[in-house]
Amino acid sequence: MVGEGKSKEYIGNISLMNIDWFSGTAELGIFIGNKDYWGKGYGSDAIRTVLRFAFLQLGLRKVFLRVMGSNFRAQRCYRKVGFKEVGRMKAHLLKNGEYEDMVLMETFKEEFAT
Ligand SMILES: CC(C)(COP(=O)(O)OP(=O)(O)OC[C@H]1O[C@@H](n2cnc3c(N)ncnc32)[C@H](O)[C@@H]1OP(=O)(O)O)[C@@H](O)C(=O)NCCC(=O)NCCS
Repeated sequence: MVGEGKSKEYIGNISLMNIDWFSGTAELGIFIGNKDYWGKGYGSDAIRTVLRFAFLQLGLRKVFLRVMGSNFRAQRCYRKVGFKEVGRMKAHLLKNGEYEDMVLMETFKEEFAT
């Protein structure tokens, strides 16, 4: 991912992982390294672009993701672009000495507004 403007600065990564061509699914991962770029719409913009590619170019049916229960910024971003929470694994991940939930979210091609 690169930012806007003349600098075209590299700000993070977005990827489709674990693609299952038979079932038509993939897992989304995203990371913007520089906190100055959080909460400015870059994440949702990049995800919409990748979902468009996943559904319209790759022909996938569903994209899912995993996110920590305390990562409210990420969850808000995912909801904005159409992901819905479909499951929650309780006390699944150890972070800063505490066990946290892991939230499962997904979105289907039919729900994606091009
Ligand atoms: C998660 C991430 C990709 C989202 O990208 P982004 O560019 O920050 O997201 P956007 O700006 O598109 O959307 C964020 C939304 O969360 C809101 N938000 C910001 N901080 C929040 C908080 N603490 N709690 C709830 N919502 C919050 C923003 O206001 C925005 O919503 P809005 O457009 O309705 O105002 C990015 O923040 C990031 O890379 N974070 C660090 C790594 C990470 O958490 N990766 C995801 C792992 S699953």
